[in-house]
Amino acid sequence: MAASHYKYVIIGGGVAAGYAAREFVRLGVKPGELAIISREEVAPYERPALSKAYLFPHGFARLPGFHVCVGSGGERLLPQWYSENGIELILNTEIVNADLSAKALASSTDRTFSYDILIIATGSTVLRLIDFGVEGANANNIFYLREIDDADKIVEAIHAKKHGKAVIVGGGYIGLELAAALRINDLHVTMVYPEPWCMPRLFTAEIAAFYEGYYANKGIKIIKGTVAVGFDTNDIGDVTAVRLNDGRVLDADIVVVGVGAKPLTTLFKGQVIEEKGGIKTDGYFKTSVPNVYAVGDVATFPLKLYHKLNRVEHVDHARKSAEHAVKAIKASERGQNLGEYDYLPFFYSRAFDLSWQFYGDNDGKTVLFGDDNPSSAKPKFGTYWIKGGKVVGAFLEAGSPEENKAIAKVARLQPPADELELLKKEGLSFASKF
Ligand code: FDA
Ligand code: NAD
Repeated sequence: MAASHYKYVIIGGGVAAGYAAREFVRLGVKPGELAIISREEVAPYERPALSKAYLFPHGFARLPGFHVCVGSGGERLLPQWYSENGIELILNTEIVNADLSAKALASSTDRTFSYDILIIATGSTVLRLIDFGVEGANANNIFYLREIDDADKIVEAIHAKKHGKAVIVGGGYIGLELAAALRINDLHVTMVYPEPWCMPRLFTAEIAAFYEGYYANKGIKIIKGTVAVGFDTNDIGDVTAVRLNDGRVLDADIVVVGVGAKPLTTLFKGQVIEEKGGIKTDGYFKTSVPNVYAVGDVATFPLKLYHKLNRVEHVDHARKSAEHAVKAIKASERGQNLGEYDYLPFFYSRAFDLSWQFYGDNDGKTVLFGDDNPSSAKPKFGTYWIKGGKVVGAFLEAGSPEENKAIAKVARLQPPADELELLKKEGLSFASKF
């Protein structure tokens, strides 16, 4: 069978693919020129909903409610939007072979595709305990969360194990958001992670102490400094207990694991230059192979502001990198120039009544300000990161939209701040001056 040919092909149907499609339509794409090939069964959606409103006991989010681009306040792109705009949305189709020199792709269902320009938007996949050799890690009711069918399995287990015991393995984003979601669903929740405090990739010990205290007040038990080394099961293979490295054994009806993600680059190994675990790009998301772009979680791109190459596994970058790559493609077709991507890192999370935002770089000395008592009626606090006498990063819990804008501005402008005591005293009003 002849390969289906498209001018533009996007591999992956996640956040970046959806925002890229919208940008193509904005800038002009003819019917039949663009195809999105996705392993998932559904049109691109806002993945962050899966660990938050999707798991609520009441008023939960379900598709089509959170298809892209609602997460950034834009129009929701329903499946028919793609057909109305002449975009082929090829779902349930996993690409298993990519030959970049021949510009040819093949799916597990033996379909073949060719393209003029390829955008790699395959995102990340979860790290699995089975890959670390953890005994019993393939038991029933041990869950991971990346795609919508994973979330459906967790929802089913929440209903099946009402008031049961849940163990969360991992103290990062998934760990903190899932611990809250399961607690809201009235499960008894214990978190286990190896580090001395949660989310060490971003949080300082002081920031983490607030969230750990808040979670403890909600009845969540936290066990730090150890890892799960095995799982016990009953005669039908359901998990019954988690065995820890320090000898403790925790009863469990449900286990959710969030021990990190890795970018899906396997298809392109040996064909593109990689760096820091991702596909190396320039400031236009061009890879080392002509006419091949990489966006979202898989791209290791120049963070212009900090003069370094990095990957960012967060939704704001997935959206913006996709838009920038499409702008770059269209500009080069028109012989125009586009500025390089100049990204200010932005991460956020929500759990219980809490909501934080972070902008910039979490490098250097830190100053905490505000009320970080987890037992306060309305705690509100923040942290600045100061490097080379300048504020380079800012974190805020419970900020208003204006206040979040102010900390974003500070992180971008990097104003001088020599006196840390003064900065602590000024707190949020320091950011509001700019
Ligand atoms: P994304 O993972 O969205 O999409 C990749 C797509 O490619 C998927 O559809 C996948 O099936 C498909 N694919 C992969 N290989 C394929 C192949 N060989 N053939 C065909 N299709 C293939 N960030 C944040 O800033 N705030 C937040 O609150 C959250 N919350 C959050 C919750 C949960 C549960 C997760 C898993 C992640 C988040 N994130 C987040 C991170 C954010 O969602 C993530 O950075 C973006 O989704 C990345 O977008 P991409 O398009 O790069 O990958
Ligand atoms: P993560 O990197 O945020 O956290 C991984 C955590 O796993 C570490 O902090 C550590 O505590 C723990 N860990 C590592 N090895 C362990 C072990 N053997 N036993 C127990 N704990 C162990 O990764 P994640 O939370 O799994 O998130 C996966 C992906 O989803 C990431 O790309 C993340 O950015 C994304 N995500 C983002 C958000 C958000 O931005 N709000 C929300 C959910 C998911």
